[in-house]
Amino acid sequence: MTSTDLDHLLDQMTLEEQVSLLAGADFWRTVPIERLNIPSLKVTDGPAGARGGGPLVGGKHTAAFPVGISLGSTWNVELLREVGVHLAREALDKGAGVLLAPTINLMRSTLNGRNFENTSEDPHLTGKLGAAYIQGLQSAGVAATVKHYAGNESEYQRNSINSVIGERALRELYLRPFEFAVKEGGSWAIMTGYNKLNGPFCSENPRLITDILRGEWGFDGLVMSDWGGTHSAGKSARAGLDLEMPGPARARAGLLEEARNDEATRQAVREAARNVLRLIERTGTFDNPRDVRDEVERDEEYADTRALIRRAGAEGTVLLRNAGGLLPLPANAKVAVIGPNATVGQVMGGGSAQMNAHRRTSPLEGLRAALGEENVTHAVGCDNDRFLPTLDVPLHIEYLGEGGQVVATEDKRGSETMWFSFPEGVDPASFRARLSLTLTAPEGGEYDLSLASAGLGRLLVDGEEAIDNWTDWTPGDTYFGLGSREMRTTRRLSAGDHQAVVELTPRPVAEGIFNLSAVRLGFRAPLSPTALEDAVRVASEADYAVVCIGTNGDWETEGVDRWGLDLPGGQDDLVRAVLAANPNTIVLLQTGGPVLMPWLEGVPAVLQGWFPGQEAGHAFADVLLGQADPGGRLPQTFPARLEDDPTHPETPDVQYPGENGQVEYREGLFIGYRHVDRAGTTPLFPFGFGLSYTTFELPDAHPSAAEVAPGGEVSVRVQVRNRGERTGQQVVQLYVRDVETTLERPEKELKAFGKVTLGPGETGEVNLTLDMRSLAYFDDTRNAWVADAGQFEILIGTSSADLPLTLPLTLTGEWSEGVAGGK
Ligand code: BGC
Repeated sequence: MTSTDLDHLLDQMTLEEQVSLLAGADFWRTVPIERLNIPSLKVTDGPAGARGGGPLVGGKHTAAFPVGISLGSTWNVELLREVGVHLAREALDKGAGVLLAPTINLMRSTLNGRNFENTSEDPHLTGKLGAAYIQGLQSAGVAATVKHYAGNESEYQRNSINSVIGERALRELYLRPFEFAVKEGGSWAIMTGYNKLNGPFCSENPRLITDILRGEWGFDGLVMSDWGGTHSAGKSARAGLDLEMPGPARARAGLLEEARNDEATRQAVREAARNVLRLIERTGTFDNPRDVRDEVERDEEYADTRALIRRAGAEGTVLLRNAGGLLPLPANAKVAVIGPNATVGQVMGGGSAQMNAHRRTSPLEGLRAALGEENVTHAVGCDNDRFLPTLDVPLHIEYLGEGGQVVATEDKRGSETMWFSFPEGVDPASFRARLSLTLTAPEGGEYDLSLASAGLGRLLVDGEEAIDNWTDWTPGDTYFGLGSREMRTTRRLSAGDHQAVVELTPRPVAEGIFNLSAVRLGFRAPLSPTALEDAVRVASEADYAVVCIGTNGDWETEGVDRWGLDLPGGQDDLVRAVLAANPNTIVLLQTGGPVLMPWLEGVPAVLQGWFPGQEAGHAFADVLLGQADPGGRLPQTFPARLEDDPTHPETPDVQYPGENGQVEYREGLFIGYRHVDRAGTTPLFPFGFGLSYTTFELPDAHPSAAEVAPGGEVSVRVQVRNRGERTGQQVVQLYVRDVETTLERPEKELKAFGKVTLGPGETGEVNLTLDMRSLAYFDDTRNAWVADAGQFEILIGTSSADLPLTLPLTLTGEWSEGVAGGK
């Protein structure tokens, strides 16, 4: 369809029809207009899989890919493109033409709850990888929706906080990945952040949407709000927001009326409707309307997707330490797999990025498959739960009418459930539900029980009240901050089955926040008092101990920030105890971001595996046994102490998490390694760091020129030699330093990178290109990108702390490029 066709279609539409397109029909779909053959378009989260239209837990099965930080660790542009192509097929299988992904906010504070979902602390790495993911996805006809635009770098008070960001930091850091996503990735859609940016909400911020995104960057796609993040009708439309999500319209309930009375709003409505139509067109939905209700689960059929996820998981795994070359393990190793993350595949983070994975392969399963059952033993050692685990059991739900009669029933699975839709005749705002399930006690004794709910809840066990989360409801860290705290109790149960009933009803929430109803019942036998001793014994009997520790999606999630940097539970003690019993101890860490490692010095080998998707256990086995080289390099600095985090300086609270409704990015340009360079701290592990099983050297680098004229480009050929006896991967990183500047600039900034795979003794080459923007800063007085004439240095190496090659570069005259966006 050409723009003339779109105009023609718009001309045929009534104002009412145009307005109807500008808010969702429901949680995941746009409004169809049958009279004009305009089909509905379905969207789905994103970013590590395509969940489909079901709830966050217990929906249709789908492939779980590595989370953002794991993909970020690969530094592999081609791999990200492939991931995009595969995700497109996943989205189409769920009837969706739009994936709500990738998440490309920057890792500013190490305590951001969605740290796991983002790619990196660096805008260049985030932008390049994001653009490749988008290209892959869209090449297969599915729209990307880059999110969350902009300044959404933490979860604290996320629905209202005002991010106060100076112009240079905004341009050089936080907007930069979005600029890549639009200009290089060609993203067809973008999602605004929940937060305010320097005053107005992002969803009604004309400077952000109209001036910069559309005006400067030439974005011609669709802008949608985050879920429940639209706050006005005409005002948001006039600012350039096309689509309120979810639907039906709430903030935009009065949009038709406003448009009838105001010419500017009428024009904005037409533009926004055009953007919705264009997205329907671009995703091929006019020609091939999908059945947006049909969702298929394909796993067996997609061996290639499983292989890709496994490969990507290994390529994102970072080898942080390998004293004495302890890894890889020999093929006949006898291994004790120990720790709370050994038997549970931690494959994803929490919040809207979660999905019902086809499988969650645990490290224990992966190592058993690789080494044989008989060579692998196990002990749990300690626990690391934030909330008690849920159960995978049948769940029967009855909805009760006024007089207590059953008006509808549903059958689901799991002891956690979340509602995005209700059976016919059930009012989401006032329903009463009774959920029944069976608790099985394998033997008589004490059991831990818990209840957390978005809504008022009560748990009865065998007819007796066990937890009252109704009269005493207290807000907590569950369900995006809309849920209660987790209430726990201990109960003596006889061996066998026990009847559990949960009663639930919604509770009113503040105006402007969408209401969520959800409940989780946790149940488990308390940890054995001999758990630590058992782990020590099992470790001492094996050749090697692999200690699987870290966190999970209850700790690393959306709506609340991270708890701190210490590993939760008794995990540090577990590592020390196992190490004392077996010097051949390998720590397999799985977290969504930096943590402290007080035991690091004594432990010979440490791998950071993140949450690498459904094949986690196999990917880890591949790396542990050397079937795959650990290809990951840290996309985020690991500070040595929380005080070294750039947002934890002399002015705590103001910079993080925020105070009086605002979070001030006072550190300006200095986050991640930029902060390390300025503050002179020594991180636990620097940005870009990661070992291989082989060793590399960078013998030489050849620039195409030592001088460049304004507007020109320089390329650098970097030689890489594999000096070892194994095939391995290396990431060549190129940073630029402005030597002569009198302006405050970071000591160095990543401007190019490339990854090579080389066989034993092989030498290869990486070709890296620098343009003028690689040398430039944003001059907020001139409103332009400016590269000053004079001396620069090109620093080349394999981490931000290891840059052995330096090439001088002279820019022969000043270069600048003005921007139209204004301030
Ligand atoms: C998240 C988005 C997500 C949306 C829909 C919001 O809570 O911030 O990233 O796409 O929900 O699930």
